[in-house]
Amino acid sequence: MKGKRELTKEQKIRSVMGADFWTNYDADGSLYTFVVSDGPVGLRQPLDRTSSEQKDCIRSVAYPSFQILSQSWDPELAYEMGKSLGNDCIEQKVDILLGPGVNIKRLPTNGRNFEYFSEDPYVAGAFAKRYIEGVQSMHVGTSLKHFCCNSSEISRQWASMEVDERTLREIYLPAFEKACEAQPWTVMCSYNLVNGVRMSENAKLYRVLREEFGFDGVIVSDWDAVKDSEASLNAGLNWEMPYNEAHQREMLAKAEKLDEKKLDESAARVAALADKCEAESKLRRQDMTLQERRAVAQKIEEEGIVLLKNEGVLPLKAGKVFVTGAPAVRYYFGGGSSNVYPERDFEPLAEALAAEGANAEYGESVWETNGHQSHLGNLKEAVLRAAQKDVTVLCVGEPNTCEYESADRQQIRLSKEEEAAIHALAEASEKLVVVVYAGAAIDMSDWIGEADAVLWAGYGGEFVSRAVARVLTGKVNPSGKLTETFPLSLEDVPAENAYRDEAVMVYSEGLNVGYRYFDTFGVPVLFPFGYGLSYSRFEYKNLTLSKEGDGVMVSFDIENVSDIGGKEAAQVYVREITKEVYRPYKELKAFKKVFVGAKEKVHVALFLDRRAFAYYSVARDAWTVKPGVFEILIGKNAEQVALRKKIAIGCDM
Ligand code: BGC
Repeated sequence: MKGKRELTKEQKIRSVMGADFWTNYDADGSLYTFVVSDGPVGLRQPLDRTSSEQKDCIRSVAYPSFQILSQSWDPELAYEMGKSLGNDCIEQKVDILLGPGVNIKRLPTNGRNFEYFSEDPYVAGAFAKRYIEGVQSMHVGTSLKHFCCNSSEISRQWASMEVDERTLREIYLPAFEKACEAQPWTVMCSYNLVNGVRMSENAKLYRVLREEFGFDGVIVSDWDAVKDSEASLNAGLNWEMPYNEAHQREMLAKAEKLDEKKLDESAARVAALADKCEAESKLRRQDMTLQERRAVAQKIEEEGIVLLKNEGVLPLKAGKVFVTGAPAVRYYFGGGSSNVYPERDFEPLAEALAAEGANAEYGESVWETNGHQSHLGNLKEAVLRAAQKDVTVLCVGEPNTCEYESADRQQIRLSKEEEAAIHALAEASEKLVVVVYAGAAIDMSDWIGEADAVLWAGYGGEFVSRAVARVLTGKVNPSGKLTETFPLSLEDVPAENAYRDEAVMVYSEGLNVGYRYFDTFGVPVLFPFGYGLSYSRFEYKNLTLSKEGDGVMVSFDIENVSDIGGKEAAQVYVREITKEVYRPYKELKAFKKVFVGAKEKVHVALFLDRRAFAYYSVARDAWTVKPGVFEILIGKNAEQVALRKKIAIGCDM
C-alpha cells in the first residue's frame, strides 16, 4: 500500500475516472497504478497502452471462445483457462482481466454471442464462477460483464431493454449472482438502458448487485458507457472508464456541488482496489510454461467441439482426404475488443491431419471476402480434385467481419457462395464432412441433408486445427454439446420477432428464451440445447430421487454400451407439474460430464437445492417454492429425455 494518504477533493474526482484507456489515476503517486486489459479468451493489449488500438496488439495465447468453453460442459476447464490466463496476465503485467461476459444469448443474431456462455443462466453462472476463481487464484483480478441485459449489439449505446421483473430475476441476473460468489474484483456495467434507466446510472440494479448478490468490489463502466458522470456517481458507479477529458473538466468545475458522501465512497472503493492490486501483485508467480498454457487451449477445443451429424463417415478411415475452405488455412475469430492476436502461427488443417496419420491434401475453393459475401475461388478445380478422393473435408464459417462487437448479424445462414460450394462438393465427393467455424447458431437447413457429417469447430483458438484433426481421425472422441439452441430458422425465435425500435427492445417473450420456448411450445429445431454426438453410445439407467435436507439427491447410471471409451454430459432438468404460476416446460438445474470406459458404467449423483425448484415471486419479492409435484428429467439434451421421475415437494422446503 502506498502509505496512509488523504486525497484532496480534486484527487478524489480524478481517481473515480480513468487516467487513460487502461489504467487508473495515481493521485500524484499516492495510489498504485493498476492495468486492466481485454479479455476474456486471451490477452488483447495494444502495443501502445495509451490507445484503444484494435490492430497493433501484443501476441498472446489464443484460447477458444466462451461458446466452445461452455460446450465442454466442464466448468473445471473454465478454472484451468482462468488460471492459464492469470499466468498470461502476470507475464504482461496486467492487474485485471476484463472478463468474463455472462450475458444471455437471447437472440441468435447478437454479434457478440461467441463471447458469452449460453442461453441458459445456470450454465453461464457455473462457468463464470470457476473462470473467475481460476484467474483470481493467480492474484489477478477479473471484471464480470456486461451488467446487464446486453443481449444485442446494434443499439447497445442508446436502447432500453424492457424486461419484466421476474424475467430479469430468472433469466438475466442469475449468472451474475452465481459469479459473484467468486467475488470478482470488479463488475462492468453495460451500455444499454434497462427499463428506461441507463445501466451506468442504474441504482436499483446496483442495489441488487451489492445487497443481494454480495458484490463488494468496484463497479466500472463499460468503455464510454457513462453519459453523465455525476448521475453515475450518485447511482453508485465507482470508476468511469476510459479517461474522458470533457467529463473530467465538468466534474472538476462542479466539485463543490457534488454529493460528498458518494464521491468519498467511490474514491475509497477505487483506492481499495488499487491497494488490493498492489498487495496481490507481490504474490504473483507464474506457474505455467507456454507449453502448458497452449495445452489448456488445445484441451478446451478438444472438449468443446460438437459433432452435429455423422452418417458413418467419422472417424475417418484409411483413404485420401481432400481439405478445402478458408478456415482450413487461416484463423477464424469473432471481432472487437476480444479479438486476440495468437502467439502461434496458424497450423493448416491438412498438415494437422497429416500429423495424425491421415493422407490429406489442401486445395483452394470458396474464400470469404467481407461480411456475408464470399467468392468461389477455385471451386471448379476443387470439385475435380474432390472427385478423386475418398472424403472431402470442407471448412466454412463466419470470420470477424460477420460476428463482431458493436453490430448484430443480419441473418444466420452462411454466405450464398459457401452454401453453393457445399452443394457442389457434396455432389462431387464420395463423402462430405463439413466443419463449421463460427461463434453462434447457423441455419444449416439449406445443405445439411447433403453432408455426411457436420462438425462444429467454433472459434477454436490457436489449436483449432490440431483439435479438429484429432476428432476427425478418432484420436479424440467428441464430447461437446451445444449450450444454445440451433433453430430451424431465425423466424422461429420469439425474441427475434419481439417489438423493437430505435429506442426500445421489448423482451415480450419473457421467460421463454432458448430451449425454454421451443420445449414449452413444441416448436421443432435443427439441434436442441444440450445436443452433441459421440463415437460412443451411452444408455441411462436406474434413476433414484431422495430428499436430503431442503433439497433432492438425484442419482442415475450412465452405461457405455459401445467398444470405445468416451465422455458424456448428463443434464438434469426440473419441471413443476402442479404449477400455480407460469413456468417453462422444464429448466436445467444441474449437469455433469463423466468419462465412461467401453462397456463400463458410471454412477452419477447430483444435488438439487431448494433454489432448483423455486420461481421468483414478484409479489413477495422472493424466490418461492410452492408445495406440489415436480418431475426430474435426465436429458441427453433438451429434447431427448432418457429418464424421468416425479417427486412431491412439501411446505418444508
Ligand atoms: C467492450 C468491453 C471491453 C471494453 C474495453 C467495450 O467496448 O464492450 O467488453 O472490455 O470495450 O475494450
